[in-house]
Amino acid sequence: TRKMILDLDTGIDDAMAIAYAVAAPDVDLIGIVASYGNVLTPLAAQNSLKILELLGRLDVPVFLGELHASTTDHFDVMPISAQIHGKNGIGEVALPTPKRQVEAKSGVDFLIEAAHQYRQDLIVVPTGPLTNLAKAIKIAPEIQDEIGQVTLMGGALTVPGNVSPVAEANINQDPVAADQVFESRLNLTMVGLDVTLRTLLTKKETQQWRELDTVAGNKFADIVDYYIDVYKITSPHLHGCALHDPLAVGVTLDPSLVSTLNLNMFVDTTKAMWGRTIGDPARLTEEAPNVSVALTVDQEKYLARFMQYLTTLFKQ
Ligand code: BDR
Ligand code: CA
Repeated sequence: TRKMILDLDTGIDDAMAIAYAVAAPDVDLIGIVASYGNVLTPLAAQNSLKILELLGRLDVPVFLGELHASTTDHFDVMPISAQIHGKNGIGEVALPTPKRQVEAKSGVDFLIEAAHQYRQDLIVVPTGPLTNLAKAIKIAPEIQDEIGQVTLMGGALTVPGNVSPVAEANINQDPVAADQVFESRLNLTMVGLDVTLRTLLTKKETQQWRELDTVAGNKFADIVDYYIDVYKITSPHLHGCALHDPLAVGVTLDPSLVSTLNLNMFVDTTKAMWGRTIGDPARLTEEAPNVSVALTVDQEKYLARFMQYLTTLFKQ
């Protein structure tokens, strides 16, 4: 079986990505790296520990990643993030203090060592800023050729951004790191707003989790209902909450969930276009495009699988 590392700023949809990866039958979740973004890095790590414990997975180690973007020395949570995910990142829902602690090894070292060990069997799924991965490839460039697949949630090619007219939140946090990842030799798939904004969950589905009458089912329903309520205010046209981060996990395990365009992409780091993910006009005719961009998604198939996986998991 293939090995998966999640790199998360946990976050409500990041929590759903953990559940999806834990529930998926065909992959082995070997660790979670924490990032800053929806919350500060230490809180993202605590949230990942809490969610793993809720799901009965005390065997999956959690590592601390970078605390801020590669180009700054400080990070503050954006007010919009605190609004969407709650101040605690998981919809103000209380979960028990985790029994375990984060590992002593850094998240970046863990990524590098796992790449050396598992090579093509390793899948990395970042659903926060790309700071950790960029740092790992800077320290150990050979991992670009070792890691089998990187499927990231981030960016927007055919739709506007969600934190600026051109930038999606994860890329916007550290466009310089994102560009290093985009222009690397990594085998990269971008699962951006183009597809994630088409995959929506409603309270009809979270009600099914409640009806399981389990702790995991009830807690996840509470956490995700918070997110659905926020979406009603911030994105009333969507009729549900976007399943951003779990879609990256879904696509890496089953690429047939989306259609893709292969393109030489880069991340714009100029002030006017900060964080825009776009094709490089100078490299349109070059062979071997560097990024596979998801453009359309089979919503029904994905939602059915998402519900099948999570419901089965929450039943246990
Ligand atoms: C992304 O930003 C974060 O708030 C979410 O967790 C997701 O990864 C969506 O733009
Ligand atoms: Ca995220």
